[in-house]
Amino acid sequence: MSLSGKPVLQALRGERVTPAPFWLMRQAGRYLPEYRALRAATGSFLDLCYTPERAAEATLQPLRRFDMDAAIIFSDILLVPQALGQELHFTEGAGPALAPIRSRAAAAVLKLEGLTGRLAPVYRALELVAGSLAPGKTLIGFAGAPWTIATYMVEGGSSRDFSNVKTFASDDPSGFAVLITLLADAVAAHLVAQIEAGAKVVQLFDTWAGIVAAEDFERLVVAPTRRIVDVVKKRFPDTPIIGFPRGIGPLYDRYFCDSGVDALSIDAAISLETAAALQKHGPIQGNLDPQILRAGGKALDDAAHAILAALGEAPFVFNLGHGVLPDTPLEHVARLAALIRQA
Ligand code: CP3
Repeated sequence: MSLSGKPVLQALRGERVTPAPFWLMRQAGRYLPEYRALRAATGSFLDLCYTPERAAEATLQPLRRFDMDAAIIFSDILLVPQALGQELHFTEGAGPALAPIRSRAAAAVLKLEGLTGRLAPVYRALELVAGSLAPGKTLIGFAGAPWTIATYMVEGGSSRDFSNVKTFASDDPSGFAVLITLLADAVAAHLVAQIEAGAKVVQLFDTWAGIVAAEDFERLVVAPTRRIVDVVKKRFPDTPIIGFPRGIGPLYDRYFCDSGVDALSIDAAISLETAAALQKHGPIQGNLDPQILRAGGKALDDAAHAILAALGEAPFVFNLGHGVLPDTPLEHVARLAALIRQA
């Protein structure tokens, strides 16, 4: 282990660390029996997010079991639109529901002022985790990227074809720019407040970057990300920012060079050769297929070894290509953790 003693932080600052440090997107959640118990005792998912002691507990649960190198704060990307004034509900089994915003006029009700006050319970949860995390562990804050948050805000929830958000973005580009810019400023403020509360790294989840047409990529994905990075870097130049623009295939190279992020989290569709080539621009995080983790067995061992062999020679953080699936067996996560430590 390196001198500063936080392997994830070291790797994200450009050091090669062996064995590779690891954490898993969605490492807190329903695949853990202790999470299901905490959730049942708390009531709604949003109550859990807004109760600092419980959100801190959910954050720490996966580390107790699997000793990951990083804790990602238990929260959600949709707390930002809610804090801007949009109505949000999570219904059991149906996912998020928001009162859709489909025009510049509808977006005018959103209020940036007071945002961090309304998100204060998130920062309190970060302070609690920061105060109890072992010294080698890295606390990660996060937010959704503007485009991905906008898809939920405009569609009113998850979507199959994203037709409402694509229509808004193409029919009223300047109105959509107002929304995206507001979201960039909200996300930047939220990340700055998370770092002030103890986050040592922040990650931007752009889960739906892959559905953006190539000619809109700069406007909808790269430019808003760069705006956020500029604000956060001005306040905290040494805090690594990880970008996760899921599903952008050949555009990963451009995103990594142009967005200003320090490290790139890649999905499982990227070949290991392409992933290794991206390491010339900076640290990479990824990219085991969550389905392979769920399936387990020799396929899991082989895939994890292949990733470590291909990417472990340069700055690298082992992770999944997307979040842990809710029906993933605990033993498979334990097996992966042991394999990474022994590599
Ligand atoms: O990674 C972690 O362990 C930290 C917590 C975290 C959650 N959501 C908790 C959560 C993080 C980093 C997120 C990010 C998030 N939230 C994203 C981006 C990453 C991704 O998965 O693509 C998105 C798109 C959301 C929005 C969201 N939140 C949806 C669509 C849903 C419903 C679908 C689902 O998985 O249930 C959620 C709910 C949610 N967020 C849960 C958790 C643990 C499940 C809530 C529950 O029933 O207990």
